[in-house]
Amino acid sequence: MTVNSQQPTIDAFKQAKQDQLFKYYDTLTIDQQQQFIDQLSKIEDPSKLISTVEQAIQFSSNNSASRNFTQLPNESTASTLDLSKDILGAWKDLGLKAIANGEVAVLLMAGGQGTRLGSSAPKGCFNIDLPSQKSLFQIQAEKILKIENLAQQKYALDVKPKVNWYIMTSGPTRNPTETFFKEHDYFGLSADQVIFFNQGTLPCFNLEGNKILLESQHSICESPDGNGGLYKALKDNGILEDLNSKKIKHIHMYCVDNCLVKVADPIFIGFAIDKDFDLATKVVRKRDASESVGLIVLDKDAQKPCVIEYSEISSELANKKDPEDDSKLFLRAANIVNHYYSVEFLNKMIPKWISSQEFLPFHIAKKKIPSLNLETNEFYKPTEPNGIKLEQFIFDVFPSVELNKFGCLEVDRAEEFSPLKNADGAKNDTPTTCRNHYLERSTRWVNANNGQVVDNGLVEVDSKSSYGGEGLEFVAGKQYKNGDII
Ligand code: UD1
Repeated sequence: MTVNSQQPTIDAFKQAKQDQLFKYYDTLTIDQQQQFIDQLSKIEDPSKLISTVEQAIQFSSNNSASRNFTQLPNESTASTLDLSKDILGAWKDLGLKAIANGEVAVLLMAGGQGTRLGSSAPKGCFNIDLPSQKSLFQIQAEKILKIENLAQQKYALDVKPKVNWYIMTSGPTRNPTETFFKEHDYFGLSADQVIFFNQGTLPCFNLEGNKILLESQHSICESPDGNGGLYKALKDNGILEDLNSKKIKHIHMYCVDNCLVKVADPIFIGFAIDKDFDLATKVVRKRDASESVGLIVLDKDAQKPCVIEYSEISSELANKKDPEDDSKLFLRAANIVNHYYSVEFLNKMIPKWISSQEFLPFHIAKKKIPSLNLETNEFYKPTEPNGIKLEQFIFDVFPSVELNKFGCLEVDRAEEFSPLKNADGAKNDTPTTCRNHYLERSTRWVNANNGQVVDNGLVEVDSKSSYGGEGLEFVAGKQYKNGDII
């Protein structure tokens, strides 16, 4: 691009009232100018982008106000807490069979920046201080290895089946994530079964939503486009094609921060296969009205499943009690971001979902965005939110699933959900609460197998020893002490 060919890009941004971006332009070197214009020219229509932000501000403030929400009907739901062992066993076998046939892949969303946790490394690299000192990524990798082994044993296969692991990263998380995997030799998985791909990015704005923020004199602030960017990223990076060429039929999608996640959970996959669902999701009982979780609900008028995000629910609706049992919240099916997709359904729907904002609207998140202060000309790290990030939400496509093709499986929180969201010092969802929940679950498994942990201690069942509490008969009659690894 020559200096002359830079002018249309500059004009387009000036027309969109973004003159502030060029405050330093004339003082930049030729290379810096070029770098800046290259970044800006990736935004096709700046005026359209600014009106998208205006719409997003409107949308986020009204999203749930005028709609009529209720619980999903019984036909769409099941609970592992009250189902018979026979049904759970049948689902597990179905899921393991699909794994044995090489029909299952897992999809990890790891593009978030973990700003609430206050760590600059990708969340999956975080060590929650288990006795083994394993990172979240290592725990998840070893669950994959373990489930592959269980499927191989169950169906007496000569060759271990492969569960491909697709990992969505973003600009800020890609390199450190990939490097971490390489440094740890993919945690025992083969390098070709771990596939990284990037989601898109979008500019960040001031709080009014009308000015793009500068990161430096020659670059704008950008952030990942939200976990709803997954669908576009699956298409743009050829992942959908890869799934089809490998004849993968079932996807278990999950988010990086849950230290108790059952990766490639055969029960969940079997539940979806048995009921012929296009899309399914796992939930736990919401802890209390203020817990920061989305709610899986039915849009009563549309008769479609949907999610009300915690950042957009009214306090009245969040606190509403169940008329049939006022000890419970009315809407309490908490989204734990464990979704099942049939690949056939993704093939059909992704082109439609990414074609229009009708399916994946932008939401706004007010954040502290390190940026250049145009008055002082200095870069600063704000202590209060100073800007807006635009995000798409992965679950906004749920209303395009027919109700009878959507399933919701309630699972036991103590067994399956303990997310890492906040730094220590917060009340919930911290490294300490994750560590405790992980060790409490391990200790329960040992006790259930008649092992004894002395002095109220807590032990760690290694992620290679057991997937979900099975195979621990050998602990019967043995004594363990606090901090032991089994
Ligand atoms: C999310 C859910 C919320 C749920 C809660 C449970 C969404 C939109 N919200 O909220 O309903 O109850 O988890 O823990 O799903 N991510 C990306 N790219 C991005 C942003 C996020 O890959 O641009 C990934 C993160 O790495 C993480 C997951 O999405 O794995 C969830 O992101 P996070 O921002 O932590 O979600 P919450 O706000 O906690």
